[in-house]
Amino acid sequence: MAPRAVLIGPPGSGKSTVAKALARLWGVPRRDTDTDIEKRAGKPIPDIFVEDGEARFREIEREAVDDALRTHDGVLALGGGAILAPETQGLLERYVLDGGAVVFLDVSLAAAAPRVGLNASRPLLVGNPRAQWVALMDARRPIYERLATVQVLTDKTSPTDVAARIDAAV
Ligand code: S3P
Repeated sequence: MAPRAVLIGPPGSGKSTVAKALARLWGVPRRDTDTDIEKRAGKPIPDIFVEDGEARFREIEREAVDDALRTHDGVLALGGGAILAPETQGLLERYVLDGGAVVFLDVSLAAAAPRVGLNASRPLLVGNPRAQWVALMDARRPIYERLATVQVLTDKTSPTDVAARIDAAV
């Protein structure tokens, strides 16, 4: 079993809402690795960062992604930083070689900022969220682009329309 599509992209790109719309369009279940991580840890993501540290968060994330890639038969949304782990990059490359679709949801700072807000649930964006977001995106864009088989810009586009574009592209 393997996901019908895996959504990657930075915070505020709309991974969760697009996953919902795409799963509805295809009539399949959706899964979000951020939710899986919280279930595995038994606490919210900000608490994992504060109490256990980012390294422990990334470890749980690697396990959650590995499990979801092997067992989820629907739409899968990954946390924005999941693609940083070389193991996860390898798993996604293998998934694509086996015919899978990895969708990079691209987004500008202007469109992502109001979606992310100053939300304390995103521990990596505390302090100066806009500058942090730009730094994350600059570092990760090459990885998102390298891993993706499809790239869709989500600025000024509803989740339903983004889902329709993905449907047409895969
Ligand atoms: C992170 C993004 C978050 C969450 C965690 C770390 C990141 O998910 O996994 O806070 O490194 O970009 P979203 O991309 O859904 O916000």
